[in-house]
Amino acid sequence: MKKLIFATNNKHKLLEVSEMLHSIVKIESLSESGLSGEIPETADTLEGNALQKATWVYERTGMDCFADDTGLEVEALDGRPGVYSARYAGEHCSFDDNINKMLGEMEGKTNRRACFRTVICLMEKGVPRYFEGRVDGEILTERHGKEGFGYDPIFMPDRFAVSFAEMPLEVKNHISHRGRAVAKLVAYLKTL
Ligand code: IMP
Repeated sequence: MKKLIFATNNKHKLLEVSEMLHSIVKIESLSESGLSGEIPETADTLEGNALQKATWVYERTGMDCFADDTGLEVEALDGRPGVYSARYAGEHCSFDDNINKMLGEMEGKTNRRACFRTVICLMEKGVPRYFEGRVDGEILTERHGKEGFGYDPIFMPDRFAVSFAEMPLEVKNHISHRGRAVAKLVAYLKTL
């Protein structure tokens, strides 16, 4: 079975993605491949960051790998925080800090439309290939649910009456930005 290193330190992402890929490729985490430390993410686009993270792993291991980068784009905030979603409330902020800042900025706003967008960069023998996924929905006015991570408790996807943090993993994976990008990656890997 083909082996791919997933360039993330995020356990939730690793779980979500492994769940969808385990029958096709063997996923190795950064620590399993002997890598440690913060991967730089200094580009100003999702594609750029995904490429930067995959390149970082490829340069250190020479192994095929992939990385993802996600942004939450909020209409009433002119698309912010977008590519800066992880550092929205400042360097080294927590998921909670980001949610608090979002609820504060969105207070009183009637247009609560938002989308999550994920770009995956697959690096095969040093050649990058991109896969994108997107989900539209709304920013809630308060936290709902305990599952998932990041902005999940305040994001409700279209056609659902619950937040991402109130869904079982299989349901989130089926409709989420990352799930949709991974589905495209899976379709590509199946052609190899
Ligand atoms: P990154 O892809 O790890 O750089 O993610 C950027 C930001 O979006 C971080 O604050 C993540 O917590 C958040 N994020 C990424 N994926 C998700 C998700 O599936 N649900 C909620 N928040 C997410």
